[in-house]
This record gives sequence, structure tokens and C-alpha cells, in this order.
Amino acid sequence: MQYMEEKLLGIKNNAISLILETKSPKELEEIRIQFLGRNGEVTQLMKDLPKLSKEERPKIGIVANNVKDIIEETIKTREKSLKETKSLHVSSLDVTEPGIKPPLGHLHLVTQAIREITTIFAQIGFTRVRYPEIEWDWYAFTSLNFPENHPARDDWETFFIKQQSDQKKGTVLLTPHTSSGQVREMEKGKFPIKMLNIAKTYRRQSDVSHTPMFHQFEGLVVGENMAISDLKGTLNYFVKSYFGENRVSRIRPYHFQFTEPSFEVDITCGVCLGKGCRLCKEGWLELGGAGMVHPNVLKAGKVDTKKYTGFAFGWGVERVLMMKEGIKIDDLRILYGNDLDFLKQF
Ligand code: DAH
Repeated sequence: MQYMEEKLLGIKNNAISLILETKSPKELEEIRIQFLGRNGEVTQLMKDLPKLSKEERPKIGIVANNVKDIIEETIKTREKSLKETKSLHVSSLDVTEPGIKPPLGHLHLVTQAIREITTIFAQIGFTRVRYPEIEWDWYAFTSLNFPENHPARDDWETFFIKQQSDQKKGTVLLTPHTSSGQVREMEKGKFPIKMLNIAKTYRRQSDVSHTPMFHQFEGLVVGENMAISDLKGTLNYFVKSYFGENRVSRIRPYHFQFTEPSFEVDITCGVCLGKGCRLCKEGWLELGGAGMVHPNVLKAGKVDTKKYTGFAFGWGVERVLMMKEGIKIDDLRILYGNDLDFLKQF
């Protein structure tokens, strides 16, 4: 008797776990037959009841009936829950609902600035060009009126590349400024020139206001009768288009090897508009360099200096971006930190 009772409880446990694993009414029916059918496990065992003594029979009969009831009950519950999950699936599938769009990125804010600058200059006839980032000393320095081995090269914190230098063009380097495109453009021999060279530039500097890689945009105009007033007009046009109508530019005497005269260009501060405040102190912010192209540079580019003169300017893309109203970046390096929380804002 002990043996039959244990067997019945074993059957019950087995049946329950199988019932709970079923995935369809069909599987459930199979389980029902396996345990409660005419040849089912419980039914078979009941056939042995007559072998037991008179006292034992009713006791085992009760256990067997209990097991049958429990199995039937569990099958019913399972049947109900299978139906419910099925109807749940049907009602949750709304084929008319719009799909979930995969997340789409957007252009980096420096790329956006480059495009905006390109468009502004294109409107007054400048054509965007690109020149090599890995450059000869000749284009980056010597052709720009830097005497050979002159320490002025140090001002640009240049990365030099370990590579066989060329007899005429000198060492190989990562261009520290877009001015390296000036003589390359002149060499094309097509005049007048109105180029906008926007490219990556490299310098050995990294702090809150410098990244080792940054971008510059370089304007070069070479044509007949070019004067400082043309440079001034171009600067003002850019400043008003990019920063806003209420901003004004000014030029201050400076020194660059490749321009004569040379200037630093300032614009009125976006916060105080030139009155002077905590940010700018004197009312002006420094934008970058400019000047009239030095005759030696024109000569290096095989330009007829009797016929043509020119002006040039070169500014940092990240710098003008930071100076734009409404954008406050405390540390320039965040631009290239791939921090999505930061980048998503633009
Ligand atoms: N190349 C200079 C720099 O990186 C900027 C510059 C100054 C460019 C004067 C010019 C210019 O075209 O005329 O600091």
C-alpha cells in the first residue's frame, strides 16, 4: 500500500509539471490522455486496487481520486491561462500602429559649422577646396615666407613626421594651419582666386581651449587691385552673417610671415556688444589672423606680382563656433569626447 501511495504522488507531481509546460490545448489533451485516459497512468494503477486488502482499498481509493481531481483541476487552470495569453497576443498586435523608428544620429556640430561657413562664403563667390593634411614643410612654411630653419616654425607647435625629407620640399609634417593651401591654390594658375580651404589642422597642444586636432578655414583672394578695404568688407560680411547683424569687426596690426601688412581680427563681444564686460573685459574678442598676401608668397606660387595682389584670412572653426551667441563650451575637448549627452543637444 505504501508503494501505491508513493507511486500516485509521483504521478501527480509529474503530471503537474508537464501540464504547466504545455503550450497548446492539443498538448494538454495529450497529457490528459497520458494520465487520466482509459490506459492512462492513474487509471492503470487503479486497476490494481482489488489486489489490496479490504482496509487498504478505500484509503488508496481516496488518494487516487484526489490525484485525479488535482490533475483535472490543473488541466482546467492551464487551459484557461493558455486561452488568455492567446487573446492577449491577438489584441496587442495592432498592425496599423506606426513602427518604432531606429534612432537616427545627426551631423556633429563642427560639421554643421563647416557647412554654415561654406554656405556663407559661397554666397560671395568663394569655392571650397581641400588640401593635404600630411604636408611638406615647403607648403606649410617655406613657401609662406618662413626662412629655412627659422624658429618661427615653433609658433605653430608642429608635429613632424619621421620620413625621408625632400630636397626641395623639406620635411613631412601634419599641417598646423590651412595657410598651407595658399601656394597649392596659386600653383593651379587660375585667376582670380577666391578659395575657401577648410581642413583638419594639427598642433602639439591640449588644454581647455586647444585640441591637438582642430579645424581651420582659410580664405584666399588673388586678383587685380585687391585692397585692405576688400579684406575688411569680406570680414564684416562674414561676421554679420555668422554671428549676427549686431556684431562688428575690427582689424589690429600684427605680424605674420606670410602677410604684409598683417592683422588680428576682433569682433564685438556677444554678451556686451562692445561695451566691455566680465567675459571680454574690453568689449572685443579675438577671431584670428588676416592680411594682404606677402609678395614672396605670391612669387612662391608663381603669381605675376605686377598684375595681381591678394588678401587672406585664417580662423579656427571650433573657435568661431564657441564665440557664437548662445553656445557656451567651457572645455573645447568635449567636442571630440564622443559624449552623446553633450552632442545630442545640437
Ligand atoms: N595661419 C595662421 C594661423 O594658423 C592664421 C592666418 C593669419 C591665416 C593670417 C592667414 C592670414 O591667411 O593672412 O595662426
